[in-house]
Amino acid sequence: MRKNIVAGNWKMNTTLEEGVELANAVNSLLEDHKANCEVIVCVPFTHLTSVHAVLNPELVKLGAEDCSAHDKGAYTGEVSAAMVKSTGAEYVILGHSERRQYFGEGNELLLAKTKLALENGLKPIFCVGEVLEQREDGSYNDVVKGQVEALFSLSAEDFSKIVIAYEPVWAIGTGKTATADQAQDMHAHIRKVVEEKYGKEIADNCSILYGGSCKPANAPEIFGKPDVDGGLIGGAALKADSFMGIIEAFD
Ligand code: PGA
Repeated sequence: MRKNIVAGNWKMNTTLEEGVELANAVNSLLEDHKANCEVIVCVPFTHLTSVHAVLNPELVKLGAEDCSAHDKGAYTGEVSAAMVKSTGAEYVILGHSERRQYFGEGNELLLAKTKLALENGLKPIFCVGEVLEQREDGSYNDVVKGQVEALFSLSAEDFSKIVIAYEPVWAIGTGKTATADQAQDMHAHIRKVVEEKYGKEIADNCSILYGGSCKPANAPEIFGKPDVDGGLIGGAALKADSFMGIIEAFD
């Protein structure tokens, strides 16, 4: 059966020292109170090695927030999937709406990144989600379907390694959460789209996370929905206590 997952996305926050401190705090809270789900922290590239050194991999897994669409070579400033993997990271967030929106990342580029991540043994946390206008004009199911279909040239074996994160863009960092029913409806839709392509077994085993203003107060209701398998957490992952509060939604 599919895994429940709570993943933190630190975005461009924390200095190295602050990041190591936060990772330590999360790790020690989980030593005292073992999680009933998989816990991941996705951290800036500069922090990966140092955070890896302080995490107990039995308790918390490590991820990056992005990787390059290129394998290696003359791409100044880029960080490859192989480099990310070499730090000890197991996961990588790809296609986050901030990458799509501010850095113009689209389907083709994201497929290239996903393939390289998989080739290098990383598990992608692939983000999809509609903007407010698409929620309001009713096109959101088609928009998200198109974003998921961008990966449909992957083999079934490769696709089965992917975690999907549904993050309605209008709910990210806005304090405006999708209702648990809106999340459930979209997650069920995504699972159906996956099932039509890859079959029931792969669809049933695919973890689909919700992201967007998730907090300890709303996580239990959202995660309680049958097709919601956890969360991708931004702001609330920057404090060990609130991140832990969300993890405890699975207790
Ligand atoms: P948020 O961010 O929890 O701060 O809304 C979620 C995300 O962007 O992954």
